[in-house]
Amino acid sequence: MDRYCVFGNPIAHSKSPAIHAAFAAQTGQSLTYEARLAPLDGFAAAVQAFIAEGGKGANVTVPFKLEAHKLAQALTVRAQAAGAVNTLHFTEQGIIGDNTDGAGLVADIVNNAGVAITGKRVLLLGAGGAARGVVLPILEHRPARLVIANRTVATAEELARQFAALGGAGVVSGCGFGQVQGPFDIVINATSASLQGDLPPLPAGVFAPGTLALDMMYGAQPTVFMQYATGHGALARDGLGMLVEQAAEAFAMWRGVHPATGEVLHQLRAAL
Ligand code: ATR
Repeated sequence: MDRYCVFGNPIAHSKSPAIHAAFAAQTGQSLTYEARLAPLDGFAAAVQAFIAEGGKGANVTVPFKLEAHKLAQALTVRAQAAGAVNTLHFTEQGIIGDNTDGAGLVADIVNNAGVAITGKRVLLLGAGGAARGVVLPILEHRPARLVIANRTVATAEELARQFAALGGAGVVSGCGFGQVQGPFDIVINATSASLQGDLPPLPAGVFAPGTLALDMMYGAQPTVFMQYATGHGALARDGLGMLVEQAAEAFAMWRGVHPATGEVLHQLRAAL
C-alpha cells in the first residue's frame, strides 16, 4: 500500500491524517497516511528514513516548510514563488517540492465561499511565510488590486516588489497597517497575531458591508480578527476550509484525482 505522512513538530494534533483517510475512502484509493514527529534538528533525516521505508509523499508543516524547500531537488512554480514547501512528492526523478497552501486558500474563497477574486480589491495582512505562500495564486485570479500590509513595512514593500515582477505590476503594492486605504472586497489575515489574541491595527473603512474577511487561523471560537470583522459588517470565515482545500490539492498531486471537500469540511467543523 502506498504510504504518505505529515512531518511537523509538534504534530500530535494534526488533522491531516483524518482528512487524507477521508479522501482515500471517498476516491477508492488504497493508501496509508500518518503523522510523524520530526526532531527540530532532524527533518532531512526523517524524510530520508521515510523514503527508505517506501514513502511516496509527505506534507510538511510548522516549522519545516523552509527546510523542505531547501531539501527538494525540483520545485513547482508556486513553490518557488512561495519560497516554502508544504507538499513533497518522492519520485524516481527525485524529491519534488510543491506548495498547495495558496491554491487551497483560493479554492476556499472561490468555490466554498462563492466569492470571485477577479476584478476585486484584496487586502493581505502580514508578509511572513503564510502571506508569501498565497500571493501568486491570488494574482493568478487577476484581482483589481492586491495590497500587502504588514507591521514591519519594509517586508511588505519587499514582497510587493518581488511579485510585481511575477505578473503583479500595477496591481500589487505594500504598506504598513496605518496606510491602508479601504474599502476592500476581500481581506485575508495571514499574520500570526490571532495566535496571541492580537488584532492587526487596521484603520477605519477597511471593511464594507459584505466584505469577505478570512483568517487563516481556526478554532472552536471565532478569532479576534473574525469578531472584529463581523462587527464592521464583514462576512467572516476561518482557515478550516483552506486547510481541507490545501490537503485536496496535495492529494490530487500525489494520486491524480481531486477529492470532493464539502463533506470532510463539514465533519471537521462539527468536531472542533
Ligand atoms: P508565518 O509562517 O505564520 O507567516 P512568520 O513568517 O513568522 O510566520 O510571519 C508572521 C507574520 O505575522 C508577520 O507578517 C508578522 O509581522 P512582522 O513581519 O512585522 O513581524 C505578523 N505578526 C506577528 N504578530 C503580530 C502582531 N501581534 N500584530 C501584527 N502582526 C503580527
